[in-house]
Amino acid sequence: MSGADTMTRPAVLILLGPPGAGKGTQARMLQDRFGLVQLSTGDLLRAAVAAGTEAGLAAKSVMAAGGLVSDDIVLAILKDRLAAADTQQGVILDGFPRTTVQAQALDELLAQSGQRINAAISLDVDDAEMVVRVAGRYACGDCCEGYHDSYKMPAVAGTCDKCGSTNMQRRADDNAATVGQRLMAYHAQTAPLITYYEKQGTLQRINAMGEIGQVAEELGAIVKKAVA
Ligand code: AP5
Repeated sequence: MSGADTMTRPAVLILLGPPGAGKGTQARMLQDRFGLVQLSTGDLLRAAVAAGTEAGLAAKSVMAAGGLVSDDIVLAILKDRLAAADTQQGVILDGFPRTTVQAQALDELLAQSGQRINAAISLDVDDAEMVVRVAGRYACGDCCEGYHDSYKMPAVAGTCDKCGSTNMQRRADDNAATVGQRLMAYHAQTAPLITYYEKQGTLQRINAMGEIGQVAEELGAIVKKAVA
């Protein structure tokens, strides 16, 4: 892609992977490194639930049970967010698309503004380890920096390295029973997108079982090429 293309067509990157694969962790690191904007449909839905909007009320019980929220709701929320000016810096889609309907809708939406997907990157992991990662996860309630009981601890226990807040929180859906449902939903409805993007010629895969820094290095190299 030429420099002119880069200016007129903001980069669009997709991170695919089951719950706990590290999509959020890596998206935040890519955001800091490349100046792209992380767009997590999970975060947008949790904000809608907290705000008690109509979409949030409809999504709440589905998310608590580990299922997928309806395509209509997710697409409406995503389109709203993509219309904001900051997305012109380029976006990392974290947790979207999750169904073929969502993937097709994204392709259509991007085509309308002359944009396209630069890369869809699958974070390949083992299911058993995902239960451990999700069960040990917590995050700063103020700046959203993510942590883990064993894999990523703050320098001072209970205090966020990034913003100094002591408001650490765990997600309501991070329990073993719900994670099992979320993994099933991933394999049934989202994993087919690996083939979808392979056919489109945008798929890249990485082994995301390594340490966070090691995965970030591999991912960073792919993203650097994809947005060049
Ligand atoms: P969402 O918020 O997207 O959750 P998810 O996909 O289940 O993914 P997670 O946030 O659990 O995992 P992650 O891959 O981001 O891992 P993380 O980096 O935190 O969705 C929640 C719900 O919203 C869904 O169940 C659904 O109901 C609904 N929803 C959202 N989007 C939707 C859509 N498009 N359509 C329909 N419904 C939708 O890492 C996990 C932990 O592991 C952390 O503690 C981290 O520190 C640690 N860690 C990360 N990488 C490593 C590593 N390499 N080694 C060791 N530890 C690591």
